[in-house]
Amino acid sequence: MLQYLGLENGVITLILSTLVLALWKMWPTKKWDPRGQFCYVTGGSSGLGLAVAIALTKRGAHVTIVARNEERLAKALAELEKTRQSSNQILRSYSFSLTDADASHAALEAASKDHGNKYPDTVFMCAGAARPGFFVEEDAKSMQKGMDNTYWIQAYTALAYTKQLVRSQTSGKLVFTCSILGYMSLIGYSTYSPGKHALRGLAESLRSELILYNSSVHIMFSGNIDSPGYVEENRTKPKITLEIESTDKPTAPDVLAKELINGVQRGDFHIAPDMLSNIIRSSTTGATPHHNVLLDVLYALIGWIGLPLWRRGVDSTVLKHRKEHKDYLATRGFFKSTD
Ligand SMILES: *[C@@H]1O[C@H](CO)[C@@H](O)[C@H](O)[C@H]1NC(C)=O
Ligand SMILES: *[C@@H]1O[C@H](CO)[C@@H](O)[C@H](O)[C@H]1NC(C)=O
Repeated sequence: MLQYLGLENGVITLILSTLVLALWKMWPTKKWDPRGQFCYVTGGSSGLGLAVAIALTKRGAHVTIVARNEERLAKALAELEKTRQSSNQILRSYSFSLTDADASHAALEAASKDHGNKYPDTVFMCAGAARPGFFVEEDAKSMQKGMDNTYWIQAYTALAYTKQLVRSQTSGKLVFTCSILGYMSLIGYSTYSPGKHALRGLAESLRSELILYNSSVHIMFSGNIDSPGYVEENRTKPKITLEIESTDKPTAPDVLAKELINGVQRGDFHIAPDMLSNIIRSSTTGATPHHNVLLDVLYALIGWIGLPLWRRGVDSTVLKHRKEHKDYLATRGFFKSTD
């Protein structure tokens, strides 16, 4: 009948399938429940990692946190103890350096010992750090460190965990934490954004591969987080970057932790915790699964119009700093240096 209205078959099919997909996504399905699950959280001693660990403990999960600093780990574990829901919950902390592949493997082995050699049901990879700066002031070592603290720090854990899952013929969940700077980038993040883009690539490969083993992969793209790491990166953040970000308000870790866990519960592959990340997500979807198709189209439209305007503003802010930047480099002795 619709043909008589002058609509092409292709258009009708497109509209109908869009509606069906949109409805399908709204249909409630059985949600992932952390209660009684063994959850492993890297970077669990502070910031987002700690907030995730607390949220999981409050929901009745067994939680193991891993980080490097023992003092901070002990404090974090004491905080977890305060939110414990039952005496059966196993709450543990381990100090390992997760930018090392062997240590990442050893950390998982140590954690699984507390569970009769059973591997975690879910791994939340929250460890990471940023050290913003100008590209011309980086060197080979700082660039490699940038990849260590963004990419390898999560990739090594993912590798060790996936091998364990497949060898023990169980299934699990891998939850990466990326950044909006894994979708796009701007001045100051030349040692941070590349590793975050690489994480997206890794997550995308793994989502496709791990369906073989009934395991799922999730990756969150957040903005700035109000955490000790944020204060730290602020120290080296170029003035230009500070100015561009001056209107952004960093998100509280507990708010993000909730969004992250909700995203895993919904089964989202790309977890976008707010409006901005949804707009950028929808503008750079590629072959990534959609969320609500209708909403995604709307977000993409907003991005298609808004993001180029935003970029123009950023470019003009950068250019306004041209003289100040040249003076800055001169005071740093950059022009006299030969390396
Ligand atoms: C994955 O699911 C399939 C189908 O339900 C099942 O046959 C298989 O044993 C599962 N594999 C793992 C590793 O859980
Ligand atoms: C970041 O550094 C700027 C300039 O040094 C300062 O004005 C601002 O308060 C700092 N913000 C945070 C969160 O540390």
